[in-house]
Amino acid sequence: MLTEEEKMIARMKPGCICKGIKLYKIIQAIEQGAKSYEEVAKMTGIGGGSCKSERCGEKVAELLSSLT
Ligand code: FES
Repeated sequence: MLTEEEKMIARMKPGCICKGIKLYKIIQAIEQGAKSYEEVAKMTGIGGGSCKSERCGEKVAELLSSLT
């Protein structure tokens, strides 16, 4: 669980740069029960960009291990 301050910071940070989706959306999806990159992608619309999910894939993996 993130503090309010951490959530505020996450709202401003990029989550999936290719798709312009904020980090906060990814955190929300994980808090709502997403357990894998595929589930997060389905819930948020991340992935499928020019980096082939390399950048957001790494962030999702880190968040999945720290939040779940
Ligand atoms: S950052 Fe998400 S697909 Fe490139």
